[in-house]
Amino acid sequence: MKVLSIVGARPQFIKEAVVQTALKKEGITEVLVNTGQHYDKNMSDIFFDILGMPQPQYNLNVGSGKHGNMTGRMIVDLEPIMEAENPDWVLVYGDTNSTLAGAVVASKLKIPIAHVEAGIRMLPKDMPEEINRVMVDSVSKAMFCPSRFAVDNLHREGKNEGVFLVGDVMYDLFLKMQPSFSHNLFNELKLTEGEFIVVTLHRDYNVDDPETLTTVLQQLSEIAKQKEVVFTVHPRTRKNIEKFNLQHLAQAIKMVEPLDYLNLMGLTQKAWKVVTDSGGYQKESYFAGKQAVVMMPDTGWRELTEQGFNVLSKPHELKDKLFDNRSPDFANQQIYGDGKSAEKIAALLKSFK
Ligand code: UD1
Repeated sequence: MKVLSIVGARPQFIKEAVVQTALKKEGITEVLVNTGQHYDKNMSDIFFDILGMPQPQYNLNVGSGKHGNMTGRMIVDLEPIMEAENPDWVLVYGDTNSTLAGAVVASKLKIPIAHVEAGIRMLPKDMPEEINRVMVDSVSKAMFCPSRFAVDNLHREGKNEGVFLVGDVMYDLFLKMQPSFSHNLFNELKLTEGEFIVVTLHRDYNVDDPETLTTVLQQLSEIAKQKEVVFTVHPRTRKNIEKFNLQHLAQAIKMVEPLDYLNLMGLTQKAWKVVTDSGGYQKESYFAGKQAVVMMPDTGWRELTEQGFNVLSKPHELKDKLFDNRSPDFANQQIYGDGKSAEKIAALLKSFK
């Protein structure tokens, strides 16, 4: 059996890392395509190095662009590859433009699509990632859901066949890599355990509008009076801080480059709390036993907000939400499976017709 996997953005390299090992164990041949949606070393190559992944067979080097342009170029390049490779499955991950491009091409070529992290839904409905999720699930034959909530979403949309609750591959990776988490940056920045927060923000609605970004930086500066703020800055966010001339608002904040997985998780282990608008990182902070303030109007990981681990926040509420009095119990971690999600996916791909 041959599977063609498509990755391109930071969270997809992380998910692919565990799935690729599981496919190999099942004796499935994998052809890996990297669209190149993310291309800065810290956003792409570093994950291959650190997670010990073999290089992809195909690199499309698509880079950034407007949504249609970027997705369109991926579609053009993916079509001949899928035709030549003629895989039994095309495997796509999450909700990025790379996911959408892979699903469009495979569906037109009538190659069955398997979607890892299927069924996640959240508001606003017009956010690019939500559009990608809905469209990809609508053409997928196998939908691998990380949570019960994701399964319920698909059932509500009338999708019953091909829906599997497998757990979260990011939890698999967390358990596997935990012994290798790095405290280098923690030491380098001379931080004190439990006395700092880790911040990541990159969503268009948080960083593309100058007023909103100003509010965010003001809130973080206020927070910095009580807890150190380590902001790992996504390139999109950095460009906008410069474009809107907001550097002066970031003086009290420790701004660092986007971090590789091992350093980000090592830092998180030592942090007090997390502030993020990343779908993956809000969950990884839970894996690490840390509360997250999620700067999104909604979350696809509703179980974490419902059970009080995470809380949603608008930009102007950030400080209040961070210093609230929640004390959730992290002792019992069963929400996202048993660390064997990737193995389940590989076994299902093999058996499911
Ligand atoms: C994308 C995904 C999002 C995912 C995120 C993880 C889509 C629609 N969104 O968002 O779901 O959570 O990746 O990081 O696919 N840039 C660089 N260097 C890079 C990558 C990006 O400079 O290596 C800058 C460019 O200015 C680019 C901008 O960031 O235009 C946005 O990148 P893009 O890939 O469009 O979306 P993300 O915000 O990264």
